[in-house]
Amino acid sequence: SINVNDPGLITLVNKLQDVFTTVGVQNPIDLPQIAVVGSQSSGKSSVLENIVGRDFLPRGTGIVTRRPLILQLINRSAPNPHQNQVKLENGVNGDVKTTDKENNAEEWGEFLHIPGQKFHDFGKIREEIVKETESKTGRNAGISPAPINLRIYSPNVLTLTLVDLPGLTKVPVGDQPRDIERQIKDMVLKQIQKPNAIILAVTAANTDLANSDGLKLAREVDPEGQRTIGVLTKVDLMDDGTDVVDILAGRIIPLRLGYVPVVNRGQRDIENKRAISSALENEKNFFENHKAYRNKASYCGTPYLARKLNMILMMHIKNTLPDIKARISSSLQKYSAELGQLGESMLGSASNIVQIITEFCTEYRTVLDGNNQEISSVELS
Ligand code: GDP
Ligand code: NA
Ligand code: MG
Repeated sequence: SINVNDPGLITLVNKLQDVFTTVGVQNPIDLPQIAVVGSQSSGKSSVLENIVGRDFLPRGTGIVTRRPLILQLINRSAPNPHQNQVKLENGVNGDVKTTDKENNAEEWGEFLHIPGQKFHDFGKIREEIVKETESKTGRNAGISPAPINLRIYSPNVLTLTLVDLPGLTKVPVGDQPRDIERQIKDMVLKQIQKPNAIILAVTAANTDLANSDGLKLAREVDPEGQRTIGVLTKVDLMDDGTDVVDILAGRIIPLRLGYVPVVNRGQRDIENKRAISSALENEKNFFENHKAYRNKASYCGTPYLARKLNMILMMHIKNTLPDIKARISSSLQKYSAELGQLGESMLGSASNIVQIITEFCTEYRTVLDGNNQEISSVELS
């Protein structure tokens, strides 16, 4: 899989979730939300869609994203507390995911404004986003700060939040308000000022980086560049003989986390409904065969962007681990104390819990102890 939802990371997070559900703690780690910022039509929705690895966002020329879309990805292979309780009471040992297995094949979306309706067809999800956008903003380029909330349930995603946002624009068109620039800025700032947000500052490579609205706004909330990644889109549309090598090398506007150049689907690809897999193949070929990029092709493209996001999420988990560790050890103490008091009848369940926690700690000992290779900013850039 090439998306941000790296299977290794999903396994790690699911194990954490399992252990904590078992001892009655919800959400041990709160992963950062990933938000896009940039000019209109710079390719923000395209980048997010490639990261998720599914076709479901409205994309295209002009102002297509006109309300914030808060997209919550929810990994649903983690057992819920109730199921776990039942298993422990029954004294069932072994695979804690058994009862969830038949549902694992399912992936669906659900909107907050239509509770209970499951969308299995991702094309229909896109239609609903368009419809719901129009219901609040009309058809004539209007915007609204009222977010659309969409949840995607899948065994193949990490539980985290992505935010798609309207593009920064200056001149009102259609039904847009006079102060459109300020309104969109406020909308975007609201999402990216959270210290927990990772900002994807998207700039089309065929425009001037010094004028990048995305980078300017990102700098307002993250002046040190601790959580901003530069994403350069439309590298395929650059004039012959020009490239982004100087930007990548940090010679234009340096960013601590660096820049990633990508090639998304163009307007014609959208019209021809080109599949993501085919677009990624095309992107790979582009960077591997281009004379400016072929010696650094492994640092280019969507898979590298996804890996970079993965490393950032890993660092976040690692930073959260001391707290998690403390909670695991206090749970262990609590349960061994209970075990002493309750005697024989509880022995089965309690030793089961201790076993799960012990197995987790053994499996992830290197990560828990912080002995794993340091993820340096050098590796990240
Ligand atoms: P947004 O307005 O920033 O969300 O941008 P979209 O993702 O909707 O893309 C705007 C337009 O640019 C669409 O027609 C896309 O097909 C096109 N586009 C986006 N990224 C690229 C790219 O890397 N290469 C090419 N050729 N077109 C792109
Ligand atoms: Na657009
Ligand atoms: Mg968009």
